[in-house]
Amino acid sequence: MRIIRSPKAMQRQALQWRSRGLRVGFVPTMGYLHAGHLSLVHEARRRVGPDGVVVVSIYVNPTQFAPTEDLAKYPRDFARDSKLCREAGVDVIFAPTDSDMYAGREDGNYSTYVVEECLTQGLEGASRPTHFRGVTTVVAKLFNCVLPEVSVFGAKDWQQAAVIRRMVNDLQFPIRIVVAPTTRESDGLAMSSRNRYLQPEERAQATVLWRSQQWVRQEVRKSSRGVSVDRLRQGVVALVAECPAARLDYVAFVDPDTLRPVDSVRRGHRIVLAVFVGKTRLIDNGAI
Ligand code: PAF
Repeated sequence: MRIIRSPKAMQRQALQWRSRGLRVGFVPTMGYLHAGHLSLVHEARRRVGPDGVVVVSIYVNPTQFAPTEDLAKYPRDFARDSKLCREAGVDVIFAPTDSDMYAGREDGNYSTYVVEECLTQGLEGASRPTHFRGVTTVVAKLFNCVLPEVSVFGAKDWQQAAVIRRMVNDLQFPIRIVVAPTTRESDGLAMSSRNRYLQPEERAQATVLWRSQQWVRQEVRKSSRGVSVDRLRQGVVALVAECPAARLDYVAFVDPDTLRPVDSVRRGHRIVLAVFVGKTRLIDNGAI
């Protein structure tokens, strides 16, 4: 396994792979890897085959954090990440620095961003207004460095995956976007680097995101017609209220592709929610 730091060196390597006809699968991450990330790596390997190349990027992207969100506190452990990547059969870790990726930004000499204007408006975009501009910008830049044929994203960040798909389609990136299922702990909590911030009593209550989805699925599947959003929202609010450490940020019921809110919830729609558990903001979603 190689570690490549500079975008230029990554591009040179990617062009060489391309000239040799190798298939490249790419998993962008911000590091602090867990089993969820590794499932994306395995999916990338499955897609490119044993003779293909799997690249994982590890880069905590400053432009997707708001000034109020603590970028400096984002967990990092490169040594552990490298070990996990090696064990998972990753060929290359691409780990650029801020000065490589955003040279001149501090001095006002970096001014190009990629903005998706529709799917980013609600949900996470409403709670974190500058977040997706940072995500689309860095993912476009990473794509230009790694030149993958296929890139794998996790379904836990459903809106992010939809936004990336739209960007790839709108800007004609020749890349297939694959969305792999959310990996969960045995009690249903979606794996996330943020789970490590949860105190033991908060960790127990954090399952409310999963229990809310399960309850909504049950209610919708009991009914042969659509179920009203108000009724489902009230049920989720009540479940969250039973957990003293939890505070609902939002719950929405949306079309899975357009992310537009629906009035009446049926099978095939998606529940998307964000809940603060203590100080930690967790997101999750699921098919209904
Ligand atoms: O999902 C993430 O970890 C990040 O948003 C991504 C896609 C690596 C971009 O920084």
